[in-house]
Amino acid sequence: MSKVLITRAVPERFLEDLRQTAEVTVYPEELKPMTREQFLDESKDKTVVITMLSDRVDQEFMDHCPELKAVINLAVGYDNIDLDYAAAKGIIVCNTPDVLTETTAELAFTLMLVTARRIIEAAQMVQDGRWIGWAPYLMAGQDVYGKTVGIYGMGAIGRAFARRCSGFGMTILYHNRSRQEAAESELGVKYADFDELITTSDYVVCTAPLTAETAGKFNKDVFSRMKEDAIFINIGRGGHVIEEDLLHAVQHREILAAGLDVLAEEPINKDHSFLAEPNIVVLPHIGSASVETRDAMIQLCVDNARRIINGEQPLTPVKMN
Ligand code: GLV
Ligand code: GLV
Repeated sequence: MSKVLITRAVPERFLEDLRQTAEVTVYPEELKPMTREQFLDESKDKTVVITMLSDRVDQEFMDHCPELKAVINLAVGYDNIDLDYAAAKGIIVCNTPDVLTETTAELAFTLMLVTARRIIEAAQMVQDGRWIGWAPYLMAGQDVYGKTVGIYGMGAIGRAFARRCSGFGMTILYHNRSRQEAAESELGVKYADFDELITTSDYVVCTAPLTAETAGKFNKDVFSRMKEDAIFINIGRGGHVIEEDLLHAVQHREILAAGLDVLAEEPINKDHSFLAEPNIVVLPHIGSASVETRDAMIQLCVDNARRIINGEQPLTPVKMN
């Protein structure tokens, strides 16, 4: 019988069918990741491993698992997986696109509103008992309506985000590896080169996948050229940002604020320097975290696993170059 490992606890109701065709091991912890040693050790005789984005699927791991046919990542991003090495070894890689698009775009939009209107700071003020009365500029933020947004990465999530922006009467610019003509005509978005995007946008929103080309893209030089009231939102990966440069830019008021769902190293602890800045909002990587969407992502991973074990085509394989 094929053996499947799932590296984090998922509800048992998703596993009934899979258990008919495979021996399924589920790491029992809901919140705590496997250690590297546990990950290597538990995977070594498995045919399929369903991984989290915090599991590093590198050469060492793949060499350690001689039976491995497929790695199925519970995420749309797969920068935690060495794709070239998987391709060389004939290991299939799957992700969970599409099912999380709207939910993730919604989180990006939430972060934009929350940072623009200082929602976290304002709620904290009330909670701390520091609210002493109404005042004209009490927690005054800035508008989102009618402003210019620059979307870096015009994939499915970028497009879903753009749709929300058009409801707010925004001018929508985007930058992407390739022009997205269909999006331009359907959504009224305008292609901008990277320089125009960062210098003219009031909100710069990163939704791109992390690759060698995009790593460190948001650095000192880029932040210094943004508008001084610009707000930077990142729902892609922490690796897009040089974090000390972002901190410097917010502290020296080169940009107004940042909203981050992703960080270079996750998790961070409460001493992280971002958390001392009221104008930096950090969320614990919850872009796709609605119950409906997480259910759909888990179901898709399990369906991919079952198909691979039955010798069928997986539903959402990652294209190997
Ligand atoms: C989350 O970050 C994902 O890639 O799905
Ligand atoms: C605010 O609550 C207002 O009435 O302007």
